[in-house]
Amino acid sequence: MSGSYLREIAPQIGAGLGFREVHLWQGNPSTAIDTDVLSEDEKQRASRYRFSEHRAAFMASRSATRTLLAGYLNCRSRDIRFGYGPFGKPVIAQPSTQLTFNLSHSGNRMLIAVARELELGVDIEFEMGCRFTDAISTSMTCSEQARIEQAPLFFREKLLLRYWTQKEAFLKAVGVGLSFPLTSLHVEFHGAGKTTIRAIEPTRSICLYGQEIDCGRSYIGALVVDPAVSLCHFQF
Ligand SMILES: CC(C)(COP(=O)(O)OP(=O)(O)OC[C@H]1O[C@@H](n2cnc3c(N)ncnc32)[C@H](O)[C@@H]1OP(=O)(O)O)[C@@H](O)C(=O)NCCC(=O)NCCS
Repeated sequence: MSGSYLREIAPQIGAGLGFREVHLWQGNPSTAIDTDVLSEDEKQRASRYRFSEHRAAFMASRSATRTLLAGYLNCRSRDIRFGYGPFGKPVIAQPSTQLTFNLSHSGNRMLIAVARELELGVDIEFEMGCRFTDAISTSMTCSEQARIEQAPLFFREKLLLRYWTQKEAFLKAVGVGLSFPLTSLHVEFHGAGKTTIRAIEPTRSICLYGQEIDCGRSYIGALVVDPAVSLCHFQF
């Protein structure tokens, strides 16, 4: 599928987005690349990437995101202006809208979640890219580490990534990114792909709802949002 497919379908699907609903899109962003839609600051950011594959991944995911959001906002892709939170979370600054979104890319896949007035976080990870032994001690709580270590060998990396993606999606929903220690988050799996993620801070505890997302072979995906919502899946 291509950018023109996304341009055609996004306005129709966007028109049906209800409150307490999340539209979750996944696909290969390089099929939707259109550098003409990027802003000057995005082109400058792209030119600063040292590795061409990182530059291409950034341009492709921004093109796809702009094309998709333009369909929901009923405007031209290049007319969208993004603002950024203190830890880099992008938001739609212009046009004025209730629409919220978050995105993640890994390998040749990306996830984009879109909603109205909801704080969202998504994460997708390619299974082969995980440095297993480093990640387990620096990102898991003691009980999560024990659960991973008790799992059959072939299943451990996958289980680690299921925890990891939930935690990263949580931190992206809150907007703080990896500035917050992953070991301060505790994930509970409840069956049917549903989870809760609790952050224990000295003064308050935040708990959000998670969902494991089927992203196909070798990929693990997660969505975190508050409150619990209904979810519609689309491909591009
Ligand atoms: C957000 C973060 C967890 C993403 O990790 P990643 O696995 O490398 O990348 P993903 O593909 O999952 O997500 C990247 C996308 O998340 C979004 N994003 C960036 N920062 C974000 C944040 N703080 N919260 C939510 N989403 C964020 C962006 O759209 C980004 O895509 P883009 O850079 O291509 O536009 C990581 O980059 C991070 O911790 N950033 C915070 C850095 C920080 O503390 N900056 C301080 C600036 S003063």
